[in-house]
Amino acid sequence: MKEDLLFYKEYEDFYAMAKQSKAFEAFCRDAFGEDFSQDGFSDVAQIDMILKYIPKRENVHILDMGCGNGKMLKYLQEKTGAFIHGFDYSEEAIETAKTRYPEKSEFRQGIIGEIEYPAESFDVITSMDTMYFAQDMTAFVAQVKRWLKPGGVFFAGYQEGDVMPKTECVETTEIAKALTANGMDYEVFDITKQTYDLLRKKREAALAHQAEFEAEGNQRWFDMLMYQTECSCEPFEEFAGQMARYIFVVDETCVMRHNGYCATKS
Ligand SMILES: C[S@@+](CC[C@H](N)C(=O)[O-])C[C@H]1O[C@@H](n2cnc3c(N)ncnc32)[C@H](O)[C@@H]1O
Repeated sequence: MKEDLLFYKEYEDFYAMAKQSKAFEAFCRDAFGEDFSQDGFSDVAQIDMILKYIPKRENVHILDMGCGNGKMLKYLQEKTGAFIHGFDYSEEAIETAKTRYPEKSEFRQGIIGEIEYPAESFDVITSMDTMYFAQDMTAFVAQVKRWLKPGGVFFAGYQEGDVMPKTECVETTEIAKALTANGMDYEVFDITKQTYDLLRKKREAALAHQAEFEAEGNQRWFDMLMYQTECSCEPFEEFAGQMARYIFVVDETCVMRHNGYCATKS
């Protein structure tokens, strides 16, 4: 039952708050540059990185796994004209997405490891701060590989130090091991420092909107933001000892390189 899954009730409450809170919308715009109802760490610069992987032609299909209320997908659609697909286990989030963004879209309530799509459905698959909810990461990545069209791109934001324990290096992260096990070469960007800076910005933005959160009766979410960003009050060196954040890109036109270097296959 989805109600028994990690954080299910919290995410239902979170997306109910995000649907009506002006304070949260303003907070997201200040912290991330755009309001995508983020519960993660995806500022608009990271989301804009996805744009270069979306082909500029008709009939392009993109999937966001853990899409929340679909705002980020809608942004990508506005920029590219793509057909957007998203799934998330939150009923609240998916109902909002379906109501707000009915054009050229398909939103499904679904659980990682249970939801299925036909093989070779998508040109681009994205997942920001959601992969770590997979019970079996290798099996989930195998599904992603199957769902991608030949030459398709997989783009994932992934963090260690909260849901996933921090490991030694990129290669020892669960997602890297799962990609390797599935024979998927990846390019990786270490964005730990950007994430630290973003957390500091989130904290500043939350404090700037504290009174509005309180006036709306949303003190709980202000408190959550304070808790979530507390680690950014430490010096960066201490933070980096406990947290790491990466963007993984699987793009068949690239060979595996670390720290963002990408060489096109000849
Ligand atoms: C950390 S949030 C990230 C949301 C959004 N992608 C972002 O970057 O702000 C994780 C998302 O995954 C969803 N989620 C958590 N566990 C899930 C599961 N087992 N199956 C499907 N979705 C799940 C949550 O509802 C939430 O929308």
